[in-house]
Amino acid sequence: MKPLHKLNISGAEVFPLIEGGKGINGTDGKSSGYWAKEGGVGTISLVTPDEVSPEGEFIPEVITKTIRTERHREMVEYSIRGGISQARIAHEIAGNNGRIHVNMLWELADSQEMIIRVLEGSKGLIHGVTCGAGLPYNLGAIASEHQVYYYPIVSSARAMSVLWKRSFKNYSEYLGGVVYEDPWLAGGHNGLSNAEDPLQPERPYERLVALRQLLNEIGLKDLPIILAGGIWCLSEWQDYIDNPELGNIAFQLGTRPMITQESPICDDWKNLMLNAKKGDVILQKFSPTGFYSSAIKNKFLSNLMRRKEAEIPYSKEAVDEMNFLLPISPVKAVYINPADKAKVEEQHRLGYTVISETPDSTLVFLTPDEWKLMQKQRANCVGCLSQCQYSSWSGENGTTGKMPDPRTYCIHDTLMAIGHGQDIDNNLAFAGHNVYRFAEDPMYANGHVPTIHELFQALLAGK
Ligand SMILES: Cc1cc2nc3c(=O)[nH]c(=O)nc-3n(C[C@H](O)[C@H](O)[C@H](O)COP(=O)(O)O)c2cc1C
Ligand code: SF4
Repeated sequence: MKPLHKLNISGAEVFPLIEGGKGINGTDGKSSGYWAKEGGVGTISLVTPDEVSPEGEFIPEVITKTIRTERHREMVEYSIRGGISQARIAHEIAGNNGRIHVNMLWELADSQEMIIRVLEGSKGLIHGVTCGAGLPYNLGAIASEHQVYYYPIVSSARAMSVLWKRSFKNYSEYLGGVVYEDPWLAGGHNGLSNAEDPLQPERPYERLVALRQLLNEIGLKDLPIILAGGIWCLSEWQDYIDNPELGNIAFQLGTRPMITQESPICDDWKNLMLNAKKGDVILQKFSPTGFYSSAIKNKFLSNLMRRKEAEIPYSKEAVDEMNFLLPISPVKAVYINPADKAKVEEQHRLGYTVISETPDSTLVFLTPDEWKLMQKQRANCVGCLSQCQYSSWSGENGTTGKMPDPRTYCIHDTLMAIGHGQDIDNNLAFAGHNVYRFAEDPMYANGHVPTIHELFQALLAGK
């Protein structure tokens, strides 16, 4: 194994090993603090981080208001208090070792306000901000104003070029690096563009070379590229280390650090990951953000897949082959292709008796309980996303004006639930495509859960 050289990241010489930020409650002050204590970069997630009192007591998110914009405000204020409290925890654990970053999903409603106010409330404790899921044009301005480094997450050189031309060229001083996240392998949301085929993965090497060429052209030849997605042990990435074609490189791991003593996820979720098999992680497009994402095929995901498979087109008028009148509620009927009649009967026979329209002129089938849950979640929506396909909420003016999409789900509700130990099978379990390696790696034999120290040492040794 080639030795890993320290790199200057966010103003300090650190090991080029980065804990990938994970919301909700997939990384926190404790996990990131220990990661930094080892001399790497820890990442607190700012996606509804848990608030912890100065005495160390967990303060749950409680939403009391009835108006959605007010509930949204309660969530934003909670997240800000949570982010500041987690930064304090991370700082206390890390001492002056390593670096502490925060991670934000750009497409959250009011993400910019949350970043700004967390940075203001934790001056000197946070050294960098990482942002993905969307094009974070204002990130450079925000980070520069607060004198912290910033790290856009991109999945192609093209995305970085757009960000640079439109904004980052004016804020190059605090551009700390660029995260290249492999859109076919990484856990969580994936940045596949329309030009890329989810079924045709491309090797990261050539895409990284293209990114480095771009950075060279714009005068950033030493800027670290942080490679994320599919990284397990670094002995498999030796060709990427000290490679002049790639230049300064660091490695970000999201899935593997989830199985550590300090990881905030519950034991049931850890067990699900420890026992996952190859192919259990599915790249799909059910997220209400509209992005692709990767998660374990548990009951929750299987059900969304089932719903999608049973989807049929409809028309409001009788046209050509769409001429069979189907009642979809006591007051509404639509036309479907008679060839789909059998599918409808089958769905009803299986208990999916509620028919719901989608914004794409299709119908999907739900159980009465699923429909009730959907209505409840939409009524309780806290407006977490800037645009939500599930509830049609828009942070800008209250509604996207589109029909709510029953093929998606409430990401706030389900990530909050799994992030706090509830029903691992019936909530969304984001994971990278490498998760099956836990079951094969001797480090985890007999259910062994390493400490972050143990994992860090193993990574440095290439294991
Ligand atoms: C459970 C889970 C949640 C994640 N949440 C986020 C997130 O909120 N923001 C983000 O930028 N990346 C998120 N990620 C991506 C990770 O930060 C990391 O880049 C990715 O997992 C790397 O790929 P790997 O899982 O193959 O190691 C998440 C990943 C996982 C597995
Ligand atoms: S319905 Fe959409 S915007 Fe509302 S809380 Fe759920 S995911 Fe967020």
